[in-house]
Amino acid sequence: MPELLLPTARLHASWLAARAEWPAGAHQDGTGLRLAADLDLDTPEDFAAWVELLLVQSDRTLPLPEGAVHATHWWIVEDDEYLGAIDLRHYVNQFLYDRGGHIGYSVRPSARGRGVATWALGAVLPRAQELSLRRVLLTCDEGNVASARTIEAHDGVLEDVRPISPRVKKRRYWIAL
Ligand SMILES: CC(C)(COP(=O)(O)OP(=O)(O)OC[C@H]1O[C@@H](n2cnc3c(N)ncnc32)[C@H](O)[C@@H]1OP(=O)(O)O)[C@@H](O)C(=O)NCCC(=O)NCCS
Repeated sequence: MPELLLPTARLHASWLAARAEWPAGAHQDGTGLRLAADLDLDTPEDFAAWVELLLVQSDRTLPLPEGAVHATHWWIVEDDEYLGAIDLRHYVNQFLYDRGGHIGYSVRPSARGRGVATWALGAVLPRAQELSLRRVLLTCDEGNVASARTIEAHDGVLEDVRPISPRVKKRRYWIAL
């Protein structure tokens, strides 16, 4: 049975094993990897520094860099094994309204197709309610069937499909809380 844990440096080895399953440099939605752009996550020191950046992003009393929003990050963990990540942005800016939504998630390739993302989204929706959000926006690329099904499993209502570049369209869903 998976659980949601706040990021922890304790899972460094498991996180590295998960990263090795992704193509090099792949974007992992909902992981906050962008915050680690200047860090070498192979080293325990930089990994711990990234974990700290993930943790403090939820502190609404702290200012954030331009373009960033306050967000809570969780890792999806089972028997101390990192399976993936999910984050909840406390509010959306224009970029997130158009493209990213309130919630992002990724599951490591070896853990896919067994309900992990569907479970994790279900576990985060009550956390969004605790932030007094009345509805949350979720988006996925058109063609990302697994993500669309994850959202639809939680009664996501499709608002529109928005072109964001000549080749990419975003499906934008709202889930009422
Ligand atoms: C999208 C993603 C998070 C799904 O994770 P997952 O744990 O495999 O999802 P689940 O097992 O909960 O499955 C969710 C639904 O997708 C379906 N599904 C899973 N993999 C699929 C695939 N490769 N093709 C089609 N459907 C798929 C499942 O059958 C399930 O639908 P159902 O409930 O109707 O049967 C995972 O594929 C991933 O990390 N992808 C890369 C990152 C990403 O796209 N993140 C989302 C960005 S919006």
